[in-house]
Amino acid sequence: MLLPQQNLMAKTSLTLFVLAGCALPTTTFADDSRIWASQCFQCHGTNGYPVGDMDEIGGKSAKSLYEELIEMKYRGKTEGIMDLHARGYSDEQLRMIAEYIAAQGEDADPETGEVEDEDWR
Ligand code: HEC
Repeated sequence: MLLPQQNLMAKTSLTLFVLAGCALPTTTFADDSRIWASQCFQCHGTNGYPVGDMDEIGGKSAKSLYEELIEMKYRGKTEGIMDLHARGYSDEQLRMIAEYIAAQGEDADPETGEVEDEDWR
C-alpha cells in the first residue's frame, strides 16, 4: 500500500516519464544500418570477419546475404539462432544490413569504414 506522498511521487514520475517520452525526437540515424549490423558482428566478428570458427559474412554479396536472411526469417521452423535473429528485423532492415555488411572489407576501420588496403575487393 502506498502512502499518499508516495502515491503522488509515483504519479509525478509517471507523468514526467510520459512527457519525456513525448519530447523524444523521432530521429532516424543516417547510419542505422551500421548500428543494426554491429549486432551481427558480435558473433561474426568485426565487419563480419570472425577470428574463430564462426561463418564469415563480411564482403559477401548483398543479394546473397539478403536472400539467406529472408530464408531464415520465413522458413517457419527454428533451425538455429539465426532464424530468431532474422525475425527481429523488418525485411527492409535486413536489406540495409545486408548492404552494409557487403560493403565491409576485412581491413576496414570499424569506426570509419575506410580501407587502407584496397586489395580485399
Ligand atoms: C548470437 C550469435 C550470432 C549473431 C548475433 C548473429 N549470428 Fe549469424 N550466425 C550465427 C551462427 C551460429 C550461424 C551458423 C548457422 C546457425 O547456427 O544458424 C550463423 C550463420 C549466419 C549466416 C549464414 C552464413 C553461411 O555461410 O551460410 C548468415 C548470412 C548470418 N549468420 C548473418 C547474420 C547477420 C546479418 C546477423 C545480424 C543481423 C547475424 N548473423 C547475427 C550466429 C550469430
